[in-house]
Amino acid sequence: MSLATPFTDFMAIEHPIALAPMGGSAGGALAAAVSNGGGLGLVGGGRGSRAWMERELAIVTARTGKPWGIGFLTWAIDIDTIVWALDQRPHAVMLSFGDPGPYAARVRATGVPLIIQVTDLDEAQRAVDVGADLIVAQGTEAGGHGGRRATLPFVPTVVDFAEPTPVLAAGGIADGRGLAAALALGAAGALIGTRFLASHEAMVPAEVRKAIIDGHGADTERTRVLDLARGSGWPAKYTARVLRNAFVDRWRGREEELAHDLEAHRPYGQAVDDDLNAISIWCSEAIDLIHEIEPAADLVHRLASDAAAALARAADGTQTTPSR
Ligand SMILES: Cc1cc2nc3c(=O)[nH]c(=O)nc-3n(C[C@H](O)[C@H](O)[C@H](O)COP(=O)(O)O)c2cc1C
Repeated sequence: MSLATPFTDFMAIEHPIALAPMGGSAGGALAAAVSNGGGLGLVGGGRGSRAWMERELAIVTARTGKPWGIGFLTWAIDIDTIVWALDQRPHAVMLSFGDPGPYAARVRATGVPLIIQVTDLDEAQRAVDVGADLIVAQGTEAGGHGGRRATLPFVPTVVDFAEPTPVLAAGGIADGRGLAAALALGAAGALIGTRFLASHEAMVPAEVRKAIIDGHGADTERTRVLDLARGSGWPAKYTARVLRNAFVDRWRGREEELAHDLEAHRPYGQAVDDDLNAISIWCSEAIDLIHEIEPAADLVHRLASDAAAALARAADGTQTTPSR
């Protein structure tokens, strides 16, 4: 069964899978591997560090001739970042978290597809208004920062709302069944983050990969505690899904106090390098479904073929155990 969708047609790619542009973790090697596997690799440009982007975009362009893109934290960048990124000739630019208004026209004027990630209907309205070519509807199951809507009801709501703009589903999708579900909800594909952290090419320490494989969705929660401790500047609207740790346990419910207690920041800062218990491990509620570290291109192929099989099983009423 082919999984051709308006997303695969529009981006001229094989599989309806996009790599989430995870800041600092989705570098050029991971984005190239996903693109070479037939998906859309998006480099995690984060806040737009020029040195980091120069290095990672050199890698992605050297390693793939297929479409790739770059994503940014909208609240943390400026127009110079967008202009510089467009000069690097990406096949897509993605904006998440914040008002895309100041940047959308600039991207669209170049003809580069504009992808906007949204966490609620107000953001979906803004994405439509500024002319997004693709909208990512992100549910609260997602790893890292996001909002409060659940993927299952939020995705079809955005699909109906944004029609005819194609929508990708994000948040809690970590295997072929999740991708199949996204397509059944009317999405044109899935944007996947955490599953790709457990790949050979992700820029994460081995301890993080292991924690994701060993962890359970029930051990994750949305919190502002680690952002407050880092002084990260994230808008209060967005919490982050992380693996629970002793620092989060200590400050849960005392966020105001933490924000004003500079002394409290010190244990976090000191521990970050060597104490896994205090490191922020941003990851999805779907980590129960992640059992091994794989090459990202293989992962793209397997997600697509398992999704096709899941859809076929659902269509003919023969639900059986998936391959993994
Ligand atoms: C470690 C990590 C870092 C992330 N960083 C970013 C980011 O810099 N920009 C962004 O748009 N989204 C970021 N996200 C969120 C993803 O875009 C996406 O919504 C999410 O990973 C989807 O949910 P999943 O993790 O369940 O697949 C991040 C997610 C993770 C897990």
